[in-house]
Amino acid sequence: MIKIAPSILSADFCNLDAEIQRVSSADWLHLDVMDGAFVPNLSMGIPVVQAIRKHTGMFLDAHLMIEKPVRFIDDFARAGADLICVHLESDYPARIADALRAMEANGVKKAVALRPITSGRAVLPYIEQLDMVLVMTVEPGFGKQKFMEHQLDTIREVRAIIDKYHPECELEVDGGITPVTARWVAEAGATVLVAGSAIYGSDDTDAAIRALRTAAGSPAR
Ligand code: DX5
Ligand code: ZN
Repeated sequence: MIKIAPSILSADFCNLDAEIQRVSSADWLHLDVMDGAFVPNLSMGIPVVQAIRKHTGMFLDAHLMIEKPVRFIDDFARAGADLICVHLESDYPARIADALRAMEANGVKKAVALRPITSGRAVLPYIEQLDMVLVMTVEPGFGKQKFMEHQLDTIREVRAIIDKYHPECELEVDGGITPVTARWVAEAGATVLVAGSAIYGSDDTDAAIRALRTAAGSPAR
């Protein structure tokens, strides 16, 4: 069963409550956290995650695009994230392992993300303890970018690693997801699809969510 995770980066930040209700037929809510250093953009932080938690029971998927994320795992967990995802490129391997331990201690789901430059094999040291791997299909930092087709190879590579070492692990893709690319990534083995502009750019968000589910081969709910 494919999960759809709308990214509120493309939402109207002045009306977040309504914007979250508008995607309640989706499965997860994807929260893009940026620090202006790991990526050339700033977005939201801990207080915003905390505020969102008060307004929804949806599963909160926090995608941390920040340097040395181990510093903030406790804060994002306390703010109400259900899953925390750190980039493998954001710190030394020992500190990524520390970040995963902090997630475990806080009882949140554990995930790592890969920039397009990073090989799928980079997940191997962690795979058995992960709840999710995120394969970026654009350079992280901005919404509405063009899907990078060569990342289908990385999705297939990570799919093979997950099947071999930890079949329950989710495989999320993020960036440039539309009904067209949703089908490609689902065929390559993705199980969670993040979409910002394809959902929030539509007047009918329910229809946009349904279109992604159908394209990915999952029956409409
Ligand atoms: C990009 C973010 C994405 C972004 C996706 O750095 O991680 O989650 O919001 O936006 P779309 O779906 O418009 O590519
Ligand atoms: Zn994201």
